[in-house]
Amino acid sequence: MILGIDTSCDETSVAILQGEKNLLANVISSQIKIHERYGGVVPELASRSHLDNLPVVVTEALTKAGIGLKDLTGIAVTAAPGLIGCLLVGHSYAKALAYQLQIPFTTVHHLKGHLFSAFVENEEKFPFLGLIVSGGHTALYYVKSFDEIELVGHTVDDAAGEAYDKVAKLLGLGFPGGPIIDKLAKQGNPEAFKFTRARVKKGPYFYSFSGLKTAVSKIVTSHSLQAPMEQGGNPDSSFIPDLCASFQKEVVGSLLEKAEIFLNEKPVKAQPVKALSICGGVAANSLLRTESQKLAERHKISCFIPSMLMCTDNGGMIAYVGAKQLKLGKTSGLDCNAFATVPLF
Ligand code: KG4
Ligand code: ZN
Repeated sequence: MILGIDTSCDETSVAILQGEKNLLANVISSQIKIHERYGGVVPELASRSHLDNLPVVVTEALTKAGIGLKDLTGIAVTAAPGLIGCLLVGHSYAKALAYQLQIPFTTVHHLKGHLFSAFVENEEKFPFLGLIVSGGHTALYYVKSFDEIELVGHTVDDAAGEAYDKVAKLLGLGFPGGPIIDKLAKQGNPEAFKFTRARVKKGPYFYSFSGLKTAVSKIVTSHSLQAPMEQGGNPDSSFIPDLCASFQKEVVGSLLEKAEIFLNEKPVKAQPVKALSICGGVAANSLLRTESQKLAERHKISCFIPSMLMCTDNGGMIAYVGAKQLKLGKTSGLDCNAFATVPLF
């Protein structure tokens, strides 16, 4: 019975996992209301909010699971990467609780949590190609086994979720931008605006989204310059759904293009890829979900995308990886620390 805690960014989340797959509770307390007026996460406000929320969320998770603290047999907590003040709240809490209850605890890499988040609800299939797309990360991994993970490529500038959030800010749509743009994109024409796909010098598996954001910014400026004359001074917003649809098509196209190049190179690898897994906050995107399925079908491999709740930062994915680590005897000492940046392997 593992308690999983994630306080790496702006969600205070606590889960209770029985065995490897039985998620008894996965409570997520979002801080969107606190940060939306700033158009992004304010680290100091986020860590203070975790401090207030964490004990409440732990109690709620225990109540939901119908267990007490004494029933816990282990604790898993995100120790890196993330906002350091935020990480330290969950990390210190987990250590104190493990000490009080005299049970083992293990620290989990947040990205490993995301990479395996689809497998709380599905059977693992190795090797798989894992695409992590969130507000802070965009990276492609070749996962041979639980402990053999190779980085294939990553973004050289903005993460895909960050691009969504910045474009939404440019358009005055609100925060977080992803869900709003996703919704508006459904009413627009994805062919209305054409973007040039960034070619990254580092290689075919690397992403770049900052040029796309600049291209969107230029379109917004030219439309607001044209609007007053055409519409008697009223700002023209009729292009926004088309722009959202075109932007979304380009982001999703770019994300999956790199994955497809890797799948086409399958024979180079010792073991052919058996599955594609898309995870992280942007995996909630409707177009990315359908296009990933199609890509996997084309390559006759399985496609694993977590349920909406498991896409966002959550304690469930941390408990899942933590349970596996504890089974392998990988416990952490009470003298361990949390870190803002640590590579996955
Ligand atoms: O994984 P996550 O909850 O937090 C991070 O670790 O970053 O991801 C949050 C990101 C935000 O940038 C948000 O705009 C994006 O995921 N997002 C979406 C959608 N839902 C959330 N992006 C595109 N389409 C969505 N439906
Ligand atoms: Zn995350």
